[in-house]
Amino acid sequence: MQIPVRKISPSLMCADLLNLKKDLDLFIDNGIECFHIDIMDGHYVHNFSLGFDFCRAISSYTDTAQDIHLMIDNPEDFVPLFARIKGSIITFHPEVLYHPLRTIELIKHHGARAGVALNPAQTIESLRPLLPHVDLLCVMTVVPGFVSQNIIPGGIEKLRETVDYVRSHGYELEIEVDGNVSWENLPKMRDAGAQVFVAGTSSIFERGGDLQKNIRRFRSILKSEK
Ligand code: DX5
Ligand code: ZN
Repeated sequence: MQIPVRKISPSLMCADLLNLKKDLDLFIDNGIECFHIDIMDGHYVHNFSLGFDFCRAISSYTDTAQDIHLMIDNPEDFVPLFARIKGSIITFHPEVLYHPLRTIELIKHHGARAGVALNPAQTIESLRPLLPHVDLLCVMTVVPGFVSQNIIPGGIEKLRETVDYVRSHGYELEIEVDGNVSWENLPKMRDAGAQVFVAGTSSIFERGGDLQKNIRRFRSILKSEK
């Protein structure tokens, strides 16, 4: 059986922002495929995090892809801005829009890849009309907006059901898992079929941890099988 490509997407809002270059260099040296950049507007979620200038600073330092997660209202207004980040994937929460298919087209028109996020309170069936048009589905295993939360009850099962639904309908998109991708949950999320893993405070950025060791540990879990 072909081993699927599994990617680590470090959530940079959890990085050591006072020594960011050190973290970025470690990720680059370890071949990290993309960076997860959480953008929050204080309205769609009651929190603020990173912004476009942060993305631009990162892209001036490395051409590592940016996995930009828009937890904002009116995401269509900001697509042209974030699409200026070359090689980015722009993921939004479709329930905030009347016409999410238009926003997917807009993202692609501006040369980025398009993703949609599935909240804990939504079913994958509700997003079905969007799935043929996106490159990534971000399955939220916490309620969006804050780091260091615990996985929602039944989160692993929901992830597995979502993967099965997507694959059984023949959609080619990548499936990302975002939220409490902890050392305990990671093997279960891998076995549930996720391909992109948002790594935050519950794994590689754990308080007092060694980032280099944690990257190696995370990679080794992704490379092993059940
Ligand atoms: C959740 C955020 C992520 C992630 C953080 O809204 O999108 O940054 O959950 O990682 P953890 O959950 O491990 O702190
Ligand atoms: Zn996120």
